[in-house]
Amino acid sequence: MDYSASYNKFFKKLKRNKSSKNKAYSYAVGGDYEEMGYIQMQLLKMIGIQPNHRIVDVGCGSGRLAHQLAKNGFSNYTGFDVVPELLSFAKSQCAKSHFKFMKTEGTHIPLPENSANLVCFFSVFTHLFHQDSYKYLLSAKSILKQNGKVAFSFLTFDEDEHWVEFYRLVELEKPTHHNQFMTNSQIEIWADKLGFTIDRLETGSTPFIPLEKEVILESGAHFRDLGSLGQGVCVLSKA
Ligand SMILES: C[S@@+](CC[C@H](N)C(=O)[O-])C[C@H]1O[C@@H](n2cnc3c(N)ncnc32)[C@H](O)[C@@H]1O
Repeated sequence: MDYSASYNKFFKKLKRNKSSKNKAYSYAVGGDYEEMGYIQMQLLKMIGIQPNHRIVDVGCGSGRLAHQLAKNGFSNYTGFDVVPELLSFAKSQCAKSHFKFMKTEGTHIPLPENSANLVCFFSVFTHLFHQDSYKYLLSAKSILKQNGKVAFSFLTFDEDEHWVEFYRLVELEKPTHHNQFMTNSQIEIWADKLGFTIDRLETGSTPFIPLEKEVILESGAHFRDLGSLGQGVCVLSKA
């Protein structure tokens, strides 16, 4: 599957339709650029990721997470994506950092073995075929240090709220890019086959990520003490 071509096409369409370029860069990654990036960072803090840890962000898009990490003293970050324009924008949002941004071909993370503390995929498996998400997890495992972690978010058939999105896809005549759902039992089987331990498996509707400030989303929804990504979240450990 050529993820680069389909996601580039999706992004070009967004740029044509959005009133401002910045909005296109935000909507390309799901919107709520500041707010969601902040909640993603809080999730990483919750699972014990420290400012000096090596963070690998696959499908980093326009830098929602990177921008927050750069502002908050994290020093070792590499982001990968298939859309060069999103990578350039992400870099521009972290201008004062030494963060690295690289293009990937789509299922492999080109970094040394045992070098990373965390590999995250936020809203990325949502757009990949299962076999490609699985290949990415294999690649993540090889670059992770012992006890390193994977965090990913996902749309799930286990969550009633996500069925709204699934029915929207059922109605859609011409999808712009691929969308994919998972289930809890599938993730449990994958973790077992891949040799990961599941630290956390959340379906998404109940906020569970500790926040240090109130977050108000573009939809008007707001989180006070605990936040959620609006998708399921899984945290795996390389035991
Ligand atoms: C919904 S966006 C999420 C971006 C970012 N993780 C965030 O949460 O802000 C999905 C991103 O995955 C990227 N993507 C799609 N297929 C990919 C692949 N095979 N490898 C890496 N990134 C991919 C897209 O270009 C897009 O930037």
